[in-house]
Amino acid sequence: MPPITQGSAPGPRKDTAGDGATVGPQRVELAGRNVSRVAFGAARLTAGDGWGVPEDISASRNLLRSAIDLGYDYIDTADSLGPGVSEAVIGDVVGNSDRVLVATKVGMLRPSATRWGVLGHPDYLRQQVRNSLLRLRRDRIDLVYLHRIDPAYPLADQLGALQELRDEGLVGHIGVSEPTPAQLEEVFDIETPAVVQSVYNLVERRNGEIITTLGDRGIPFVAYWPLLGRGVSRSVYDAIHRQLRPTAQRLGTTTHALSLAWIFGRHPLSLAVVGSRDPRHLAANRAAADLTLDDAVLDEITAAVDAVCDPSTAFNPARSKDDK
Ligand SMILES: NC(=O)c1ccc[n+]([C@@H]2O[C@H](COP(=O)([O-])OP(=O)(O)OC[C@H]3O[C@@H](n4cnc5c(N)ncnc54)[C@H](OP(=O)(O)O)[C@@H]3O)[C@@H](O)[C@H]2O)c1
Repeated sequence: MPPITQGSAPGPRKDTAGDGATVGPQRVELAGRNVSRVAFGAARLTAGDGWGVPEDISASRNLLRSAIDLGYDYIDTADSLGPGVSEAVIGDVVGNSDRVLVATKVGMLRPSATRWGVLGHPDYLRQQVRNSLLRLRRDRIDLVYLHRIDPAYPLADQLGALQELRDEGLVGHIGVSEPTPAQLEEVFDIETPAVVQSVYNLVERRNGEIITTLGDRGIPFVAYWPLLGRGVSRSVYDAIHRQLRPTAQRLGTTTHALSLAWIFGRHPLSLAVVGSRDPRHLAANRAAADLTLDDAVLDEITAAVDAVCDPSTAFNPARSKDDK
Protein backbone atom coordinates (compact mmCIF):
# COMPACT_ATOMS: atom_id res chain seq x y z
CA MET A 1 0.00 0.00 0.00
CA PRO A 2 1.37 3.47 -0.79
CA PRO A 3 1.90 5.49 2.40
CA ILE A 4 -1.22 7.56 2.92
CA THR A 5 0.87 10.66 3.50
CA GLN A 6 1.65 10.65 -0.22
CA GLY A 7 -1.98 11.34 -1.03
CA SER A 8 -4.30 9.67 -3.49
CA ALA A 9 -5.93 11.51 -6.35
CA PRO A 10 -9.67 11.13 -7.02
CA GLY A 11 -10.35 8.56 -9.72
CA PRO A 12 -11.60 5.03 -10.20
CA ARG A 13 -8.57 3.37 -8.53
CA LYS A 14 -9.17 1.30 -5.42
CA ASP A 15 -6.06 -0.28 -3.94
CA THR A 16 -6.27 -3.00 -1.39
CA ALA A 17 -4.01 -2.00 1.45
CA GLY A 18 -4.20 -5.49 2.87
CA ASP A 19 -4.39 -6.30 6.54
CA GLY A 20 -7.61 -4.43 7.16
CA ALA A 21 -7.60 -1.23 5.10
CA THR A 22 -8.32 -0.01 1.59
CA VAL A 23 -7.20 3.15 -0.13
CA GLY A 24 -9.36 4.60 -2.88
CA PRO A 25 -11.54 7.61 -3.61
CA GLN A 26 -14.35 7.94 -1.09
CA ARG A 27 -16.95 10.60 -1.73
CA VAL A 28 -20.10 11.69 0.06
CA GLU A 29 -23.24 13.35 -1.30
CA LEU A 30 -23.56 16.57 0.68
CA ALA A 31 -25.74 19.59 -0.03
CA GLY A 32 -26.33 18.49 -3.61
CA ARG A 33 -22.65 17.89 -4.32
CA ASN A 34 -20.27 14.99 -4.29
CA VAL A 35 -17.35 15.83 -1.99
CA SER A 36 -14.29 14.27 -0.38
CA ARG A 37 -14.66 13.11 3.24
CA VAL A 38 -12.15 15.64 4.60
CA ALA A 39 -13.20 19.29 4.48
CA PHE A 40 -10.86 22.25 4.83
CA GLY A 41 -11.49 23.97 8.16
CA ALA A 42 -11.07 27.66 7.47
CA ALA A 43 -10.47 28.94 11.04
CA ARG A 44 -6.76 29.27 10.31
CA LEU A 45 -7.30 31.77 7.50
CA THR A 46 -7.53 34.30 10.36
CA ALA A 47 -4.53 35.64 12.29
CA GLY A 48 -4.85 33.05 15.08
CA ASP A 49 -7.01 29.96 15.28
CA GLY A 50 -10.22 31.85 14.57
CA TRP A 51 -9.56 35.45 15.52
CA GLY A 52 -8.15 38.55 13.85
CA VAL A 53 -6.90 39.86 10.52
CA PRO A 54 -3.58 38.26 9.52
CA GLU A 55 -0.68 40.61 8.99
CA ASP A 56 -0.14 39.05 5.58
CA ILE A 57 -3.59 38.24 4.21
CA SER A 58 -2.04 37.00 0.96
CA ALA A 59 -0.59 34.07 2.96
CA SER A 60 -4.14 33.10 3.96
CA ARG A 61 -5.29 33.35 0.36
CA ASN A 62 -2.36 31.17 -0.73
CA LEU A 63 -3.12 28.63 1.99
CA LEU A 64 -6.68 28.29 0.74
CA ARG A 65 -5.52 28.07 -2.89
CA SER A 66 -3.08 25.30 -2.01
CA ALA A 67 -5.82 23.39 -0.13
CA ILE A 68 -8.06 23.58 -3.21
CA ASP A 69 -5.14 22.47 -5.41
CA LEU A 70 -4.71 19.46 -3.10
CA GLY A 71 -8.30 18.42 -3.80
CA TYR A 72 -10.22 19.93 -0.89
CA ASP A 73 -13.65 20.55 -2.32
CA TYR A 74 -15.63 21.47 0.80
CA ILE A 75 -14.56 24.65 2.63
CA ASP A 76 -16.07 25.01 6.08
CA THR A 77 -16.19 28.34 7.91
CA ALA A 78 -18.39 30.50 10.16
CA ASP A 79 -19.23 34.20 10.34
CA SER A 80 -17.74 34.24 13.85
CA LEU A 81 -14.26 33.22 12.65
CA GLY A 82 -12.36 36.46 12.54
CA PRO A 83 -15.14 37.57 12.89
CA GLY A 84 -15.77 37.81 9.18
CA VAL A 85 -12.09 37.39 8.25
CA SER A 86 -12.23 33.74 7.19
CA GLU A 87 -15.29 34.38 5.01
CA ALA A 88 -13.60 37.40 3.39
CA VAL A 89 -10.56 35.32 2.40
CA ILE A 90 -12.84 32.64 0.94
CA GLY A 91 -14.68 35.40 -0.91
CA ASP A 92 -11.38 36.59 -2.41
CA VAL A 93 -10.27 33.14 -3.51
CA VAL A 94 -13.48 31.28 -4.36
CA GLY A 95 -16.02 34.06 -4.85
CA ASN A 96 -19.11 33.05 -6.75
CA SER A 97 -17.44 30.04 -8.37
CA ASP A 98 -19.01 26.59 -8.10
CA ARG A 99 -15.73 24.66 -7.96
CA VAL A 100 -15.97 23.92 -4.22
CA LEU A 101 -18.77 23.58 -1.70
CA VAL A 102 -18.77 26.64 0.57
CA ALA A 103 -20.43 26.25 3.96
CA THR A 104 -20.73 28.84 6.70
CA LYS A 105 -22.45 29.07 10.05
CA VAL A 106 -24.51 31.79 11.71
CA GLY A 107 -25.95 32.18 15.18
CA MET A 108 -22.86 32.67 17.33
CA LEU A 109 -21.42 35.91 18.69
CA ARG A 110 -17.70 36.68 18.82
CA PRO A 111 -17.31 39.95 20.71
CA SER A 112 -13.61 39.41 21.55
CA ALA A 113 -10.78 36.96 21.02
CA THR A 114 -11.72 35.01 24.12
CA ARG A 115 -15.50 35.34 24.24
CA TRP A 116 -18.19 33.40 22.40
CA GLY A 117 -21.94 33.69 22.67
CA VAL A 118 -25.10 32.39 21.06
CA LEU A 119 -27.75 34.56 19.41
CA GLY A 120 -30.59 32.91 17.53
CA HIS A 121 -32.85 35.92 17.12
CA PRO A 122 -34.34 35.20 13.67
CA ASP A 123 -33.64 38.73 12.44
CA TYR A 124 -30.03 38.42 13.54
CA LEU A 125 -29.74 35.17 11.56
CA ARG A 126 -31.25 36.86 8.49
CA GLN A 127 -28.83 39.78 8.82
CA GLN A 128 -25.82 37.53 9.32
CA VAL A 129 -26.56 35.43 6.23
CA ARG A 130 -26.75 38.65 4.20
CA ASN A 131 -23.42 39.80 5.68
CA SER A 132 -21.91 36.39 4.88
CA LEU A 133 -23.14 36.61 1.28
CA LEU A 134 -21.34 39.95 0.91
CA ARG A 135 -18.08 38.73 2.47
CA LEU A 136 -18.14 35.45 0.56
CA ARG A 137 -19.01 37.40 -2.60
CA ARG A 138 -21.65 34.87 -3.52
CA ASP A 139 -25.19 35.08 -4.87
CA ARG A 140 -26.04 32.00 -2.82
CA ILE A 141 -24.30 30.13 0.00
CA ASP A 142 -24.32 26.39 -0.72
CA LEU A 143 -24.77 25.36 2.91
CA VAL A 144 -25.59 27.41 6.00
CA TYR A 145 -25.49 25.84 9.45
CA LEU A 146 -27.34 27.10 12.48
CA HIS A 147 -24.11 27.26 14.54
CA ARG A 148 -25.90 26.68 17.84
CA ILE A 149 -29.55 26.31 18.73
CA ASP A 150 -30.46 29.23 20.99
CA PRO A 151 -32.89 28.13 23.71
CA ALA A 152 -34.04 31.76 24.05
CA TYR A 153 -35.95 31.63 20.74
CA PRO A 154 -38.34 29.05 19.28
CA LEU A 155 -36.38 26.62 17.12
CA ALA A 156 -39.05 26.93 14.42
CA ASP A 157 -38.25 30.66 14.18
CA GLN A 158 -34.48 30.09 13.96
CA LEU A 159 -34.77 27.40 11.28
CA GLY A 160 -37.65 29.35 9.76
CA ALA A 161 -35.36 32.33 9.10
CA LEU A 162 -32.95 30.05 7.21
CA GLN A 163 -35.84 28.37 5.37
CA GLU A 164 -37.07 31.79 4.21
CA LEU A 165 -33.59 32.64 2.93
CA ARG A 166 -33.51 29.30 1.12
CA ASP A 167 -36.90 30.10 -0.45
CA GLU A 168 -35.40 33.39 -1.63
CA GLY A 169 -32.53 31.46 -3.25
CA LEU A 170 -29.86 32.96 -0.97
CA VAL A 171 -29.13 29.69 0.83
CA GLY A 172 -28.80 26.30 -0.86
CA HIS A 173 -29.08 23.88 2.06
CA ILE A 174 -29.53 24.08 5.84
CA GLY A 175 -27.44 22.25 8.44
CA VAL A 176 -27.34 22.31 12.23
CA SER A 177 -24.35 22.27 14.54
CA GLU A 178 -24.08 20.73 18.02
CA PRO A 179 -27.73 19.80 18.61
CA THR A 180 -28.47 17.58 21.59
CA PRO A 181 -30.33 14.35 20.72
CA ALA A 182 -33.58 15.97 21.95
CA GLN A 183 -32.96 19.12 19.90
CA LEU A 184 -32.24 17.01 16.83
CA GLU A 185 -35.65 15.34 17.18
CA GLU A 186 -37.17 18.82 17.36
CA VAL A 187 -35.21 19.80 14.23
CA PHE A 188 -36.65 16.80 12.35
CA ASP A 189 -40.19 18.07 13.07
CA ILE A 190 -39.33 21.33 11.27
CA GLU A 191 -36.69 20.50 8.67
CA THR A 192 -34.69 17.54 7.44
CA PRO A 193 -31.20 19.00 7.81
CA ALA A 194 -28.76 18.49 4.94
CA VAL A 195 -26.09 17.65 7.53
CA VAL A 196 -25.25 17.82 11.23
CA GLN A 197 -21.82 19.03 12.41
CA SER A 198 -20.60 18.32 15.94
CA VAL A 199 -17.45 17.50 17.85
CA TYR A 200 -16.39 13.87 17.51
CA ASN A 201 -13.08 12.06 17.77
CA LEU A 202 -11.41 8.95 19.15
CA VAL A 203 -11.90 10.16 22.72
CA GLU A 204 -14.88 12.52 22.58
CA ARG A 205 -17.64 10.10 21.57
CA ARG A 206 -20.64 11.68 23.23
CA ASN A 207 -22.27 12.42 19.87
CA GLY A 208 -22.30 8.70 19.02
CA GLU A 209 -26.07 8.50 19.53
CA ILE A 210 -26.59 11.37 17.10
CA ILE A 211 -24.36 9.69 14.52
CA THR A 212 -26.42 6.50 14.80
CA THR A 213 -29.64 8.48 14.30
CA LEU A 214 -28.18 10.23 11.25
CA GLY A 215 -26.91 6.93 9.85
CA ASP A 216 -30.41 5.43 10.16
CA ARG A 217 -31.87 8.43 8.32
CA GLY A 218 -29.14 8.66 5.66
CA ILE A 219 -28.12 12.17 6.72
CA PRO A 220 -24.41 13.12 6.56
CA PHE A 221 -22.43 13.91 9.71
CA VAL A 222 -19.40 16.22 9.83
CA ALA A 223 -17.01 15.80 12.76
CA TYR A 224 -15.13 18.87 13.92
CA TRP A 225 -11.97 18.54 16.07
CA PRO A 226 -11.61 15.04 14.62
CA LEU A 227 -7.86 14.60 15.05
CA LEU A 228 -6.15 12.26 17.43
CA GLY A 229 -5.72 13.84 20.83
CA ARG A 230 -7.82 16.95 20.36
CA GLY A 231 -8.90 18.16 23.81
CA VAL A 232 -6.94 15.59 25.81
CA SER A 233 -3.90 16.09 28.01
CA ARG A 234 -0.44 15.71 26.55
CA SER A 235 0.10 12.46 28.47
CA VAL A 236 -3.15 10.93 27.16
CA TYR A 237 -2.28 12.10 23.64
CA ASP A 238 1.16 10.48 23.87
CA ALA A 239 -0.32 7.25 25.27
CA ILE A 240 -2.91 7.01 22.45
CA HIS A 241 -0.28 7.77 19.84
CA ARG A 242 1.98 5.01 21.24
CA GLN A 243 -0.91 2.55 21.35
CA LEU A 244 -1.95 3.22 17.74
CA ARG A 245 1.52 3.36 16.22
CA PRO A 246 1.82 -0.42 15.59
CA THR A 247 -1.53 -0.41 13.74
CA ALA A 248 -0.52 2.65 11.74
CA GLN A 249 2.84 1.10 10.84
CA ARG A 250 1.20 -2.17 9.81
CA LEU A 251 -1.16 -0.30 7.50
CA GLY A 252 1.52 2.06 6.18
CA THR A 253 -0.21 5.16 7.49
CA THR A 254 -0.13 7.62 10.40
CA THR A 255 -1.95 7.66 13.71
CA HIS A 256 -3.66 10.93 12.70
CA ALA A 257 -4.95 9.33 9.49
CA LEU A 258 -6.26 6.41 11.56
CA SER A 259 -8.14 8.85 13.80
CA LEU A 260 -9.90 10.31 10.76
CA ALA A 261 -10.63 6.94 9.13
CA TRP A 262 -12.05 5.68 12.44
CA ILE A 263 -14.66 8.45 12.22
CA PHE A 264 -15.49 7.48 8.63
CA GLY A 265 -16.11 3.95 9.89
CA ARG A 266 -18.87 5.18 12.24
CA HIS A 267 -21.34 6.14 9.53
CA PRO A 268 -21.03 5.75 5.74
CA LEU A 269 -21.92 9.42 5.23
CA SER A 270 -19.46 10.85 7.73
CA LEU A 271 -16.91 13.56 7.02
CA ALA A 272 -14.32 15.42 9.06
CA VAL A 273 -13.35 19.08 8.97
CA VAL A 274 -9.67 19.74 9.67
CA GLY A 275 -7.68 22.95 9.64
CA SER A 276 -3.95 23.33 9.12
CA ARG A 277 -1.34 25.83 8.00
CA ASP A 278 1.20 23.10 7.33
CA PRO A 279 1.24 21.89 3.68
CA ARG A 280 2.35 18.39 4.76
CA HIS A 281 -0.53 18.10 7.21
CA LEU A 282 -2.96 19.44 4.61
CA ALA A 283 -1.84 16.79 2.12
CA ALA A 284 -1.87 13.99 4.70
CA ASN A 285 -5.34 14.89 5.96
CA ARG A 286 -6.71 15.11 2.43
CA ALA A 287 -5.22 11.72 1.63
CA ALA A 288 -6.76 10.22 4.79
CA ALA A 289 -10.18 10.93 3.27
CA ASP A 290 -9.58 7.95 0.98
CA LEU A 291 -8.61 5.47 3.71
CA THR A 292 -11.25 2.91 4.66
CA LEU A 293 -10.68 0.58 7.62
CA ASP A 294 -12.24 -2.84 8.07
CA ASP A 295 -14.45 -3.44 11.10
CA ALA A 296 -11.74 -5.46 12.83
CA VAL A 297 -9.28 -2.55 12.58
CA LEU A 298 -11.94 -0.09 13.78
CA ASP A 299 -12.49 -2.29 16.84
CA GLU A 300 -8.74 -2.63 17.37
CA ILE A 301 -8.41 1.18 17.41
CA THR A 302 -11.31 1.62 19.82
CA ALA A 303 -9.83 -0.99 22.16
CA ALA A 304 -6.38 0.62 21.94
CA VAL A 305 -7.79 4.01 22.99
CA ASP A 306 -9.95 2.50 25.74
CA ALA A 307 -6.87 0.75 27.13
CA VAL A 308 -5.12 4.03 27.90
CA CYS A 309 -7.90 6.47 28.82
CA ASP A 310 -11.47 6.75 29.97
CA PRO A 311 -13.23 8.44 27.02
CA SER A 312 -16.05 9.63 29.27
CA THR A 313 -13.68 11.89 31.22
CA ALA A 314 -10.50 12.39 29.16
CA PHE A 315 -11.88 15.06 26.81
CA ASN A 316 -11.99 18.68 27.92
CA PRO A 317 -12.80 21.33 25.29
CA ALA A 318 -10.83 23.89 27.31
CA ARG A 319 -7.70 21.94 26.33
CA SER A 320 -8.56 22.25 22.63
CA LYS A 321 -6.46 25.30 22.01
CA ASP A 322 -3.99 23.86 19.56
CA ASP A 323 -3.51 20.66 21.52
CA LYS A 324 -2.74 17.84 19.16
N1 LIG B 1 -19.34 23.54 14.37
C1 LIG B 1 -18.60 24.06 15.33
O1 LIG B 1 -19.11 24.52 16.35
C2 LIG B 1 -17.10 24.08 15.17
C3 LIG B 1 -16.27 24.30 16.27
C4 LIG B 1 -14.88 24.30 16.07
C5 LIG B 1 -14.35 24.11 14.80
N2 LIG B 1 -15.21 23.91 13.74
C6 LIG B 1 -14.68 23.73 12.37
O2 LIG B 1 -13.51 22.99 12.40
C7 LIG B 1 -12.50 23.67 11.66
C8 LIG B 1 -11.15 23.35 12.17
O3 LIG B 1 -11.03 23.70 13.54
P1 LIG B 1 -9.63 23.96 14.21
O4 LIG B 1 -8.70 24.51 13.16
O5 LIG B 1 -9.86 24.72 15.44
O6 LIG B 1 -9.18 22.54 14.68
P2 LIG B 1 -8.65 21.20 14.01
O7 LIG B 1 -8.83 21.22 12.56
O8 LIG B 1 -9.26 20.08 14.75
O9 LIG B 1 -7.12 21.22 14.39
C9 LIG B 1 -6.22 22.09 13.85
C10 LIG B 1 -4.87 21.85 14.58
O10 LIG B 1 -4.41 20.53 14.26
C11 LIG B 1 -3.13 20.61 13.64
N3 LIG B 1 -3.08 19.59 12.60
C12 LIG B 1 -3.85 19.51 11.48
N4 LIG B 1 -3.53 18.41 10.78
C13 LIG B 1 -2.55 17.76 11.47
C14 LIG B 1 -1.82 16.56 11.24
N5 LIG B 1 -2.03 15.79 10.17
N6 LIG B 1 -0.90 16.19 12.16
C15 LIG B 1 -0.66 16.95 13.24
N7 LIG B 1 -1.32 18.09 13.51
C16 LIG B 1 -2.27 18.50 12.64
C17 LIG B 1 -2.99 22.02 13.14
O11 LIG B 1 -1.65 22.45 13.19
P3 LIG B 1 -0.81 22.74 11.85
O12 LIG B 1 -1.27 24.07 11.32
O13 LIG B 1 0.59 22.72 12.34
O14 LIG B 1 -1.12 21.61 10.91
C18 LIG B 1 -3.81 22.81 14.17
O15 LIG B 1 -3.03 23.08 15.31
C19 LIG B 1 -12.85 25.14 11.75
O16 LIG B 1 -12.30 25.85 10.68
C20 LIG B 1 -14.38 25.08 11.72
O17 LIG B 1 -14.77 25.07 10.37
C21 LIG B 1 -16.55 23.89 13.91
